[in-house]
Amino acid sequence: MTGSDEASPSQPVPLPDASRRLVVAIDGPASSGKSSVGAAVAAAIGARFLDTGLLYRALTWLCLERRLRPEDGPAVAGLVGEIDLGPDEAGHLARVLVDGRDVADRIRTPRVDRAVSEVSRQPEVRAALLDRQRAIAAAGAIVVAGRDIGSVVLPDADVKVWLDASAEERAARRARERGFDPASPPGIAILDELRRRDQADGSRAVSPSRPADDAVHVRTDGNTFEETVAAVLAVVRAAGAVAEGSP
Ligand code: C5P
Repeated sequence: MTGSDEASPSQPVPLPDASRRLVVAIDGPASSGKSSVGAAVAAAIGARFLDTGLLYRALTWLCLERRLRPEDGPAVAGLVGEIDLGPDEAGHLARVLVDGRDVADRIRTPRVDRAVSEVSRQPEVRAALLDRQRAIAAAGAIVVAGRDIGSVVLPDADVKVWLDASAEERAARRARERGFDPASPPGIAILDELRRRDQADGSRAVSPSRPADDAVHVRTDGNTFEETVAAVLAVVRAAGAVAEGSP
């Protein structure tokens, strides 16, 4: 695989058995579809799914609840032990538990969006969550979505995909999801916020959001959801075939 590879959309076809043990890293910027595409890919290959953004969001939510300053890395990192992920009905690690309470519906809010990049640029926070993410992935057979999975968290992942689309396309999708016309003032605010987060996540000193050198780039502009899932499955299938043929 090379960084310049482009996967073309194709129909899903049955995957070789070897792909069931694969560790698949899907990275990309905000609203690139990593979590929905990652969950669909995981379901197709019978793997678990971890959206690492949930960990950063849950920690940010808890930091705000406790009235800690997002830039106080050591204090915020001290909260990591209070956060747990649990499986939903589909077996994905989508239940976000704080003190046993499911807070999943409180962490995808503009309030958390605004503070999460500050929390996630703290080296103490990244170190604490690094161990957590590796522990979850250790058993294999998992699709992991994030920003630095292929480059830092799981550099030995069998498959690395960098999912991307223009900021306008990503913001328009997010605006429609939230019930706004992309050209309306709230739609434009979503685009501004997304650009701000791209810039913050891509320029931080520790583990900036970036494609691994050996990631396959999948651009999703103009794709349907199904086309993007098929394109990623094509990449997984290729890696699964390699694993199957090797000793
Ligand atoms: O993917 P999502 O938009 O939910 O992630 C929220 C934030 O968490 C990102 O903007 C980024 O600051 C942080 N994050 C990260 N590394 C990851 C996943 C998320 O820094 N692997």
